[in-house]
Amino acid sequence: MHILVTGGAGYIGSHTVKDLVKARHQVTVLDNLSKGWRAAVTKARLIEGEITNQRLLCELLQTVKINAVIHFAASSLVGESMQCPADYYANNVTGSLILLEAMREAGIPYLVFSSTAAVYGEPVEIPISEDHPAIPTNPYGATKLALEEALPWYYQAYGLRYISLRYFNAAGADPDGELGEVHEPETHLIPLVLKTALGQTPEIKIFGRDYPTPDGTCVRDYIHVTDLAQAHILALEALAGGANPSIYNLGNGNGYSVLEVVQATEKVVGKPLPKTFSRRRVGDPAVLVASAEKIKRELHWRPCYSDLHTIIETAWRWHQKNPLGYPKIGIYPGS
Ligand code: UFG
Repeated sequence: MHILVTGGAGYIGSHTVKDLVKARHQVTVLDNLSKGWRAAVTKARLIEGEITNQRLLCELLQTVKINAVIHFAASSLVGESMQCPADYYANNVTGSLILLEAMREAGIPYLVFSSTAAVYGEPVEIPISEDHPAIPTNPYGATKLALEEALPWYYQAYGLRYISLRYFNAAGADPDGELGEVHEPETHLIPLVLKTALGQTPEIKIFGRDYPTPDGTCVRDYIHVTDLAQAHILALEALAGGANPSIYNLGNGNGYSVLEVVQATEKVVGKPLPKTFSRRRVGDPAVLVASAEKIKRELHWRPCYSDLHTIIETAWRWHQKNPLGYPKIGIYPGS
């Protein structure tokens, strides 16, 4: 198939593009490079542009025969979304609706949508399955849920088949060492711990030690980015094989506390790391752990890299080799 991947220069997008190409799909990436990296797209055509640019989308979809879209392009930071909800509604809702419209005009039948555990809000039950109540507590989760709620109507009226994937904590790096996790600014736990290991930040700040968890720090479900990438390919193939629209969690079902992540990292890097405890970060639930039984059962998804050691070890290899992140390479708009 020829797949349009929006946000394919970003962290999860670039890993997915790599595996799509490996699986012999043809890929075109559309990314505005606000958060993504030109150097992360080496095996596909990259078009620099906005998903809100209706003309660009329509021209692209008229000139290239696209069979399916994987839609990653979005704003995705919980804290930022609380400060700038308007940006989140513009990018994640308006932008996505423009993309759906262009797909409808071009008659593209399949969509894999990048969603998030943030749609659930404060958990009432752990592990969280797909039928857990979805009551987001921030605009990021709310905007992703808004799109998810539109999709069944698009299916009913226009026949758009979709699979929505709700990621828990994406982590780790390409096992081949070509791709990794680079955000500017960095807010995610594992890359921040590795920056401390590299001496780029003086210490790890652990947000909160008074949560109702065994060691008092937050528990999260870390899932390797290559396992996430594989799930997108399975979703795509399922849609092409006639699967009904569906929503799946992606996590590994094991929770690790912030302290456990730090300790596992100390083992991987072979030295103790300086850490301090600070106040809770606003909006952090104590525990977020997925049940991913549905995608294992229905799409036969089998995570291969998601034990904590492998996650940290692959991320550490990337960070050591690329301490400054991706190289900044020339700008060729529309290339
Ligand atoms: N943490 C620290 N110190 C830091 C950074 C993070 O203690 O310097 C803690 C956080 O408080 C949290 C855990 O580490 O308990 C993980 O934090 P991240 O920022 O790495 O990830 P989040 O759990 O906040 O969010 C991630 C994605 C969201 C997604 C969510 C769903 O970034 O997009 O998982 O579970 F919505």
